[in-house]
Amino acid sequence: MRVFMAADHGALDLKDDLVAWIQDRHELDVVDFGVHSPESVDYPDLAAVMCRALLSAEPGDRGILLCGTGLGMSMAANRLVGVRAALCHDEFTARLSRQHNDANVLVLGGRVTGVAVARGIVDVWLVEAFEGGRHQRRLDKMEHYAHEARMAENS
Ligand code: RB5
Repeated sequence: MRVFMAADHGALDLKDDLVAWIQDRHELDVVDFGVHSPESVDYPDLAAVMCRALLSAEPGDRGILLCGTGLGMSMAANRLVGVRAALCHDEFTARLSRQHNDANVLVLGGRVTGVAVARGIVDVWLVEAFEGGRHQRRLDKMEHYAHEARMAENS
């Protein structure tokens, strides 16, 4: 599993901490799409770059996005077909986002979640597995309704 990561200026420090944490603690390859400086940027650009790479990566690779609140990144990421981005504030939601929602992108808020809590969330999120079964049926329905909406837009 590789972990693709990107953050805007609102979460640069947390992103850098988690890149090192995931490499050292989990011994996983991390692809860091930035940012690398505190200069102001637009989070949709970072979300798009990371998610496009993730969607053409190996099945099982994961993404982590960070912005100030996590809200903008999660909204931007979830606009892309195939992304299931979960904004998590604690280990419980992180665990369920994997077990029930098969989240392939974790989103964190650098201005709302401290380093120790974020590391705990990442630890849980990287190891928990999707349970399938009734949860797969619900994901299939989500895709079905999204597809219907796209078809209606194009008609
Ligand atoms: C940037 O100031 C801030 O708006 C961004 O990091 C994020 O919180 C947006 O949702």
